[in-house]
Amino acid sequence: MEKILIVDDKEANLYSLDALLEEIKCDEYQFETISALGGEEALRIAMSDSDVQLIILDIQMPDIDGFEVAKFLKSSSKTKHIPIIFLTAAFKADEFVKNGFKIGAIDYFSKPIEKHQFLNKIKLYLQLIIKNKKLKEMNLTLNQKVTEEVEKNKHQQIMMFQQSRLAQMGEMLSMIAHQWRQPLSAINATSIAMNISARFEDLGHKEVIEKTDKISEYAQYLSTTIEDFRDFFKEHKATQQLNYEELIKSVLNIVEISITNKDIEIKQDINCTENFETYPNEIKQVVLNLLKNAEDILLEKKIKNPFIKITTYQENNKYILEVNDNGGGVPESIINNIFDPYFSTKLQKDGTGLGLYMSKTIIEEHCKGKLSVSNNQDGAVFKITL
Ligand SMILES: Nc1ncnc2c1ncn2[C@@H]1O[C@H](COP(=O)(O)OP(=O)(O)OP(=O)(O)O)[C@@H](O)[C@H]1O
Ligand SMILES: [Mg+2]
Repeated sequence: MEKILIVDDKEANLYSLDALLEEIKCDEYQFETISALGGEEALRIAMSDSDVQLIILDIQMPDIDGFEVAKFLKSSSKTKHIPIIFLTAAFKADEFVKNGFKIGAIDYFSKPIEKHQFLNKIKLYLQLIIKNKKLKEMNLTLNQKVTEEVEKNKHQQIMMFQQSRLAQMGEMLSMIAHQWRQPLSAINATSIAMNISARFEDLGHKEVIEKTDKISEYAQYLSTTIEDFRDFFKEHKATQQLNYEELIKSVLNIVEISITNKDIEIKQDINCTENFETYPNEIKQVVLNLLKNAEDILLEKKIKNPFIKITTYQENNKYILEVNDNGGGVPESIINNIFDPYFSTKLQKDGTGLGLYMSKTIIEEHCKGKLSVSNNQDGAVFKITL
């Protein structure tokens, strides 16, 4: 409840002031009056009771006068917000006008007090005080609400971040699984070949070395694939020197046997031998995907004299690598969808539809290049521009 502190050095005055204020107490104005006999007591109460909302202060008091009390109250952060109304003898009113307002009083009454005017004004101040208090409370709950909302938001952001990390990890796993298929089947094929040779006691010393070297190489590739994809979502990774010629050689090491075993001819037309800065391992993944897709279409359509042609050249300071096949091209009806995630026409042959999506992400988002497709008279042409 609000408290009004009344201060006077004469007990009789305090008593009659209290009685006067009693008259306006009602449901709307609930307050308690506290009396202080003199300035010192007034200071003690004002400093210790945080519920004091209004002070009615007599100016002439023997110990510390009203002006001094007011000055002190206005100088303390604990009490400076409390409105002060002075009571002054009529003949001293001029002196108050000069000093009182300067100190920070909001109003004054001269004694003897004119009852109705006094009570009306006190009502008005009480109204203001109550409204002010409500406003402060509202502000407080508003602040609290804002803080709560901000906290909630932060929490949500953390959750979203974790979810997106999980999604990224899921995506990464799918990519690794996608890129592992070829080397894994190469390992499998090599070990089956060794096994058969051994059964027919036709496994020479030389062949064992050759084949196990191959298997080590494939295994090495599996492990670098993991490393590459672990770095995939890192913001600042270091670029390296890339040379298309070397890159093609190292990709063919992995897939050449599997492709030529299917009687597909691999043609090369290498016109760009320069080194440039990019992420070579990631580009390797892309070329691997393009070769695999070409192989898939040639087998699916049972093309006669199937070939895959890899061309590199330089154009307007860009380094270009093209993979072309004679599989008849990408139908116009789907050509705009083939880079979408999970778009595949090989669903019955467990195609994931991730190959081209991953490749586009690598080339365009990571390497800031371009991956595009077109059809020529033989088939599809996938073009990497870096
Ligand atoms: N060289 C190509 N010629 C004709 N169509 C192609 C060629 N390369 C890709 N496509 C088409 O684009 C689609 C998407 O290719 P993408 O590599 O993203 O997935 P996928 O090969 O179907 O599945 P996965 O890569 O998991 O084996 C293929 O299903 C195919 O229809
Ligand atoms: Mg594919």
